[in-house]
Amino acid sequence: MLRWPFFSKKPDPIIRPLEARWFADCARLHGCFFARAWGVSDFEGLVRDHQVVADGAFDGPGKICFGFAISRFVAPEAELLSIAVEPRHQGRGVGRHLLSAHFSRLAAQGVREVFLEVEQGNMPAVQLYERFGFATVGERVGYYPKKDGSRATALVMRAGLS
Ligand SMILES: CC(C)(COP(=O)(O)OP(=O)(O)OC[C@H]1O[C@@H](n2cnc3c(N)ncnc32)[C@H](O)[C@@H]1OP(=O)(O)O)[C@@H](O)C(=O)NCCC(=O)NCCS
Repeated sequence: MLRWPFFSKKPDPIIRPLEARWFADCARLHGCFFARAWGVSDFEGLVRDHQVVADGAFDGPGKICFGFAISRFVAPEAELLSIAVEPRHQGRGVGRHLLSAHFSRLAAQGVREVFLEVEQGNMPAVQLYERFGFATVGERVGYYPKKDGSRATALVMRAGLS
């Protein structure tokens, strides 16, 4: 017989501003996905900047950080610089919770419009962004260096924040 917790849904993540003790986890996570990997010092430099908003996704007790979203803003505009969710936590709404809280914090800073770049064909990310009202407004051909030495096109997407 199947019993609890087999059917239990994982609890929603807690979204909180990123602090220095999580930068090593974020750097490791960033390096899993992006050819131009950010190190701990990159996160330190970004988060020190008052024009940067950085959020992490945590388990209930706040002991594990399994995602982050980071943007730079000059109100009324912001650029989403990066978002990533640990592979084993993907597909259960962590990205959605992260962006929802992150965009609320940006809106509180006077941001009304967000831009981002995403690799063409990165469907999980593109569909996540479309869910938040992002639409493609441009393309940068050959923008992303890939680990295999090739280059990929970036889509430039934009959404208004209400
Ligand atoms: C993009 C990313 C952050 C999404 O995080 P996530 O926690 O898995 O996303 P969620 O579970 O919150 O999904 C939210 C929406 O995104 C879309 N989505 C997520 N995973 C998807 C997949 N594998 N295929 C298609 N759409 C997907 C869906 O629209 C989903 O909404 P739904 O659940 O109602 O269908 C995650 O896949 C990731 O870290 N990717 C690697 C890093 C990366 O590419 N970052 C973006 C760089 S621009």
